Amino acid sequence: MGTPHNSAAMGDIAKTVLLPGDPLRAKFIAEHFLEAPKQFNAVRNMFGYTGTYKGKEVSVMGTGMGCASIGIYSYELIHFFGVENLIRIGSCGATQENVRLGDIIMAAGASTDSNYAHQYNLPGSFSAVASYPLLRRAVETAEKYGYPYQVGNVLSSDVFYNETEEWKIWAKMGILAVEMESFALYCNAARAGVNALGIFTVSDSLISHEEMSAKEREQGFTNMMTVALEASLEL
Ligand code: HPA
Repeated sequence: MGTPHNSAAMGDIAKTVLLPGDPLRAKFIAEHFLEAPKQFNAVRNMFGYTGTYKGKEVSVMGTGMGCASIGIYSYELIHFFGVENLIRIGSCGATQENVRLGDIIMAAGASTDSNYAHQYNLPGSFSAVASYPLLRRAVETAEKYGYPYQVGNVLSSDVFYNETEEWKIWAKMGILAVEMESFALYCNAARAGVNALGIFTVSDSLISHEEMSAKEREQGFTNMMTVALEASLEL
């Protein structure tokens, strides 16, 4: 059947999908972390693959950047392909002094400057939250392996190159870090009654302007992948 953005057939995609922003990251994950990966999508080069991890079927697919893009891909995965667990993996920029490069951030909640939730006609503001079972498993894995991690609220911003330093106002509300997609993912999951979680490595700091080296990036990425894949196992 397929959709305008995804040529997979029903059954090609696992119930659990890992969602990096970059489609080439999806390809890398499929080739290095999954057994027997099979590609199910190449429309718009938004590559998607299904394989197994420790014997359990899992898929990985790119989302593109921003709420608009992940909004499309995650909606279709849920409503046209029967996906029930969506785990975003990505990077984020720290907005607190005590959030360090390489830390793993798990988004218990996602705040936003996006208008994505306008569509629901809610009579107030919506608190977009992670699936607690997914979050609990991710925390258990980070604890088990001793990875540095923090759980809290992130800002899913529509704007990467912002005219004003609005992140500083969000930081006063305890926002740990900025990324660009989790709010839309959490809204789509909430509306459909499925599970979603955003897990990030801190790649840069908006406070100190430090950035991770290539080696640090690789280690942070590997730790985050372990957390995401182990969390996906118990679903
Ligand atoms: N802003 C938005 N998204 C990001 C950032 C950032 O500073 N760093 C990594 N992803």
